Amino acid sequence: MLHLVVNGRPVPIHDQPPNRTLLQFLREDLGLTGTKEGCAEGDCGACTVAVREAGGYRATNACLVLLPMMNGKEIVTVEGLSEGGALHPAQSVMVEKLGSQCGYCTPGVVMSLFEACYRLDLDEPWKLDDQMCGNLCRCTGYRPIREAAAVVGGCAPDDRFARRLDEPIAAPESLDHRAGGQRFWAPATLDELFAILRDHPAARIIAGGTDLSLLVTKRFEVLPELVSVENISVLSSMEARADMVSIGAAVRLSDLEAFARRELPSIERMLRYFGSRQIKNRGTVGGNLANASPIGDLPPILLALGATVVLVSERGRRRLPLDVFFLAYRKTALEPGEIVERVEVPRPPPSARVTAYKVSKRQELDISTVSAGLYVNLDGPTVREARFAYGGMAAVPKRAAAVERAVIGKAWTEATVAAACAALERDFTPIDDHRGSAWYRRTVARNLLIGFFHETAGERSPRHRARPTGTVVPGSPS
Ligand SMILES: Cc1cc2nc3c(=O)[nH]c(=O)nc-3n(C[C@H](O)[C@H](O)[C@H](O)COP(=O)(O)OP(=O)(O)OC[C@H]3O[C@@H](n4cnc5c(N)ncnc54)[C@H](O)[C@@H]3O)c2cc1C
Ligand code: FES
Ligand code: FES
Repeated sequence: MLHLVVNGRPVPIHDQPPNRTLLQFLREDLGLTGTKEGCAEGDCGACTVAVREAGGYRATNACLVLLPMMNGKEIVTVEGLSEGGALHPAQSVMVEKLGSQCGYCTPGVVMSLFEACYRLDLDEPWKLDDQMCGNLCRCTGYRPIREAAAVVGGCAPDDRFARRLDEPIAAPESLDHRAGGQRFWAPATLDELFAILRDHPAARIIAGGTDLSLLVTKRFEVLPELVSVENISVLSSMEARADMVSIGAAVRLSDLEAFARRELPSIERMLRYFGSRQIKNRGTVGGNLANASPIGDLPPILLALGATVVLVSERGRRRLPLDVFFLAYRKTALEPGEIVERVEVPRPPPSARVTAYKVSKRQELDISTVSAGLYVNLDGPTVREARFAYGGMAAVPKRAAAVERAVIGKAWTEATVAAACAALERDFTPIDDHRGSAWYRRTVARNLLIGFFHETAGERSPRHRARPTGTVVPGSPS
């Protein structure tokens, strides 16, 4: 049996098949039709609800969440916000700023604003864009919505939701839920997980579900046996050591983003353009590596930083350089019964320069055409080490070995970089597709390397400056 709390009311669930989404359950079983369905693939935000987690409420795409993933959690929908006829600040600000017309997107927008109300880290204008970029609106235009976010972001109302955040969250328990011929496990330890994988070798691992759930919601496939790694606490830890940073596979991308701000600015910079706030609130590091997409956004920067991936099974642990983890298109070195446990990222030495780039058709919530993680370590003016990794240029995220060889031992100058770029022809044979031609991809790859040379001339791991936003709010830095 599953236990959810929706808008403060316990909702026991006996007979819902594990492939049913939270969105379907809210709308069709609980009649909470304020939460809308637009795309059913995480792109529009109409289905946004908030989930109480340690540290705050998290805006979440209900269309991508399978019901058992919410076992033991508290969900707030747009119907749960107002009290005694008084609107929540996330709602009243939308009225004041004229942020709604047809209203289809509005409940989702309100729930993203709801998360923003209780966030204490919205200290830069770009974070408001990041907070809201997972919510599409087809009629109002984004200025009023952006202005609403600027008013309530971090306003921390002293209300029942804030008081609830002060209360402890129960430790997750193991779950074995069956209904409708489907089964969903959420073990709490690695040993339990290994036993399930041994007895059910066809069971599929699921973490945040932001990739896997699409098989259910868009391809209408049935995933009869799923094992979640979300409740295994050892997979959700992050550790900053003197020489390296260790990141658990089940760490959510929004948590990694906050952590990387202090520890690894090049990763924070990449995550700014990863999906949306809702996607980062569920998506994990392990999911991004294990799905082995050629346009996954974390692999290039992790390759550039020289990361090692730690794999674990009941046979023990093994460490692999990330370079050899990706074997072929969507194929990794993971063996049956084995999972990604964590990623270990060495800290760049002071003589290194490193950063990440993502080129896509849209700035927000888009898939990379080409992405890059670029790293050089200098000995005076001379290049001692180079790791130039690209996404979107081959069947797997891959380093440009010939370009790297062409700069090592040379003076780090624009002339060296420009000459070395000729070797991109040997490293990659990119494809033509609707996102970009082979010529375009090669040209972008070259230009990113030259841009890297110039951008890191001033700062060795440049952060994003407060950027001009699409809808400028008076007083925001430009
Ligand atoms: C709207 C939208 C926008 C997106 N934007 C981006 C983007 O900008 N950049 C980008 O790179 N990706 C993007 N994605 C893809 C996705 O969000 C990421 O790949 C995310 O990191 C996947 O993590 P997850 O935990 O949700 O994976 P899941 O969907 O849970 O799992 C993905 C795969 O990894 C496997 N897996 C998960 N954890 C482990 C583990 N610990 N060990 C072994 N196997 C494991 C699963 O079996 C599955 O095959 C987007 C997705 C959506 C829907
Ligand atoms: S319905 Fe579009 S993001 Fe969920
Ligand atoms: S108000 Fe119509 S889609 Fe946003």
